[in-house]
Amino acid sequence: MGLIVCTADLFSEHLERLRSAGHEVRVVEQGSCASLGSMLSDADALICLLTDRIGSDTLSQARKLRIIANVAVGYENIDCAAAQEKGIVVSNTPDVLTQSTADQTFALLLAAARRIPEADSAIRGGKFPRWGLQQPLTGIDVHGKTLGIVGMGRIGAAVARRGRLGFGMSILYVSRTRKKQLEEELGAVAVSFECLLEQSDFVCIHVPSTPETKGLIDASALARMKPSAILVNASRGAVVDEAALVNALDENIIAGAGLDVFEHEPAVHPGLLTHRKHVVLAPHLGSATTDTRRAMATIAIDNVLAVLAGEPPLTPVA
Ligand code: NAP
Ligand code: GLV
Repeated sequence: MGLIVCTADLFSEHLERLRSAGHEVRVVEQGSCASLGSMLSDADALICLLTDRIGSDTLSQARKLRIIANVAVGYENIDCAAAQEKGIVVSNTPDVLTQSTADQTFALLLAAARRIPEADSAIRGGKFPRWGLQQPLTGIDVHGKTLGIVGMGRIGAAVARRGRLGFGMSILYVSRTRKKQLEEELGAVAVSFECLLEQSDFVCIHVPSTPETKGLIDASALARMKPSAILVNASRGAVVDEAALVNALDENIIAGAGLDVFEHEPAVHPGLLTHRKHVVLAPHLGSATTDTRRAMATIAIDNVLAVLAGEPPLTPVA
């Protein structure tokens, strides 16, 4: 029936589903993505990852492509305008990864505040610190503090719920639109960006990567934050100016950071690697649980099967 080109390392049951629906699946070997354009020339569908850059050049050779199913909720890696021009549907994987990404965000927040990686390294290095009131590795309280959410969407709201309902935190937020229901449910308060930076003990970033959000957390934003505050970013690296963040950590402008994403991923600013106190780094693991990754693959495949059957996609991007 159709040819599906796939850069994702799909689970065997997903490959089986596509094949038993009568489609041919051509799995692109890691490292062959540079020649993706030519592979798309006779493809009907593409299943890809957020690390694949699908620009107008890649799409120029696609003669009959009907859908690009990104196995991620973020889709800034795809030139959606170029796809639309060619009548190609773009789909993503919203909702199924919201809770696991919120868990990862909160894990980074807690780990940075309570210095878990430093503590782990101390024990592994044979340096179990003596118990004392002012012992090394004392941290920062999380419960009852103020949590600032930048981008109160699906994941932002899930993090806010964890903060309010699990840790008794006060919630401030910035978003493009007011979230009245969350204001009622969590007592969340919509504030200006400047107010959020100045009043929050923890600032969590959950906006997508867009031209408007690029470098949103720059030197001037960091300068507004409390010296005791921790920045957590589990959205996209481009939202934070990493050099400015390193400088803010060097100069004690803020206390720490929990980062799941990086400006030039997979490269990490060397200045971040030298900071250990209240700084926790993870290699883009927000949705990385087996259950969630399976669910993401399932949605991507549902989208492909629907479009190739002439039906509308389940989760097209806006
Ligand atoms: P979402 O529901 O669309 O939420 C994004 C929110 O950002 C929306 O509520 C939107 O506000 C707000 N926003 C957009 N532009 C803004 C701006 N310029 N200023 C202020 N707020 C703005 O998306 P989601 O599912 O929560 O995912 C959010 C992002 O997380 C994704 O785009 C992706 O980049 C990232 N992510 C990362 C991982 C990871 O592994 N680390 C995993 C999943 C997702 P309105 O609602 O007011 O329009
Ligand atoms: C992960 O980063 C995603 O956007 O799903």
